[in-house]
Amino acid sequence: MAKRKIKFVCQECGYESPKWMGKCPGCHQWNTLVEEAAMTGSGNSRHIFQTNSQTSAKPEKITAIKSEKEPRMTTDMPELNRVLGGGIVPGSLVLIGGDPGIGKSTLLLQVSAQIADKQLPVLYISGEESSRQTKLRAERLNITSDELYVLSETNLQDVITQIEQIDPKFVVIDSIQTIFKEDITSAPGSVSQVRECTSQLMRIAKSKGIPIFIVGHVTKEGSIAGPRLLEHMVDSVLYFEGERHHTFRILRSVKNRFGSTHEMGIFEMKEKGLEEVLNPSEIFLEERSQGAAGSIVVASMEGTRPVLVEIQALISPTSFGNPRRMATGLDTSRVPLLMAVLEKRAGLLLQNQDAYIKVAGGVKLDEPAIDLAVALSIASSFREQVSNGDDVVVGEVGLTGEVRRVARIEQRVQEAAKLGFKRVIIPKKNLEGWTPPSSIEVVGVSTVQEAMQVTLGDR
Ligand code: TYD
Ligand code: MG
Repeated sequence: MAKRKIKFVCQECGYESPKWMGKCPGCHQWNTLVEEAAMTGSGNSRHIFQTNSQTSAKPEKITAIKSEKEPRMTTDMPELNRVLGGGIVPGSLVLIGGDPGIGKSTLLLQVSAQIADKQLPVLYISGEESSRQTKLRAERLNITSDELYVLSETNLQDVITQIEQIDPKFVVIDSIQTIFKEDITSAPGSVSQVRECTSQLMRIAKSKGIPIFIVGHVTKEGSIAGPRLLEHMVDSVLYFEGERHHTFRILRSVKNRFGSTHEMGIFEMKEKGLEEVLNPSEIFLEERSQGAAGSIVVASMEGTRPVLVEIQALISPTSFGNPRRMATGLDTSRVPLLMAVLEKRAGLLLQNQDAYIKVAGGVKLDEPAIDLAVALSIASSFREQVSNGDDVVVGEVGLTGEVRRVARIEQRVQEAAKLGFKRVIIPKKNLEGWTPPSSIEVVGVSTVQEAMQVTLGDR
């Protein structure tokens, strides 16, 4: 019989302590320890120390293990399939995180309907909305799948009973923070509840071979609410993000046991649900303001796919106090760094200028290969020199103003050529070892000054 005991658990990192503390020793956050009932006696973590000869598996030679290609369930959304690494793996537990209202429920309901349309039973469990609310959403999305079962339930035991009865081929839990297990006294969404419920769902997914998608809320700080350890427990973690005021939504994989991470799928939220964006570069460049100073197109990689995005800079004199450096869609700390390089190496007097940098379209770019484009957009706006609208720029900038080699240059150049750009400015080091397409002129540069001369024309 398990004995009940009290413990204090950090809601941020899962650190456990027998007494309350103001500051968590694990993650150094304040006021995150919350009282929870501990189960002792069952000792589930102690199994590893017991020598149990019956259950221990024998080591095998790696060459003797049969490799099976996982049969994957493909949805009708190539964008989602790609982010998952080629489709849904049976028995996988996938976590989808994102801000409230970003479209997680919409995406998963659409996926559920697509699978149900293939005559595979799907169970959609909503702990947040009633069945009638889900029905309203389904009507909006034009869903008429017979095999799609909807259940409004928060008790884990009842959820499991239904999974056993319906025997679905795909399960959605919306959201993990609303599901609770009865014999744990802490509130739904607390560390113990989330951890226990997730591990039980993991067991079901693995033993029955059912893929389960769980929705997780995101906290103010941007991580999935509940413990970080939730991300460690599941097979894949996807983030659904985007700016609320933009219609574009980006599905990003940050962990994937069955495929590459940093893959990106782009969707657009329409009146009738999410639609895939198969040609992101075209969409991102649609509203480009040609002939304006401060605008540069960059060829960035998102996972295995190149995307062309416009970077905009606005440089204006500081009216009082400290100059401001603001950036949306890219790492803010790169901006002062690149401005310092421009000041020191290219002689631009930027220290008393405000700088606002923006990646158009609400995308986030986080690779250093966009450095050169950011630097050129700053220079372009500062000098009021318009760049050639047919140029695409790519390259990393070092502290001495040198332009450094970037990865996957061929794909970036091909994408630029595909979209009809006439010229691409790349690091000189990247010119070796491949033949560029004949439809586009490729210019290698080795310093920022050189790149400025090529794109802005020095005066
Ligand atoms: P939702 O899927 O409920 O978000 P989440 O589950 O991540 O909290 O998305 C709700 C938003 O999407 C809401 O603001 C309305 C909008 N929406 C559309 O624009 N079109 C649609 O067809 C649907 C279903 C929702
Ligand atoms: Mg929702």
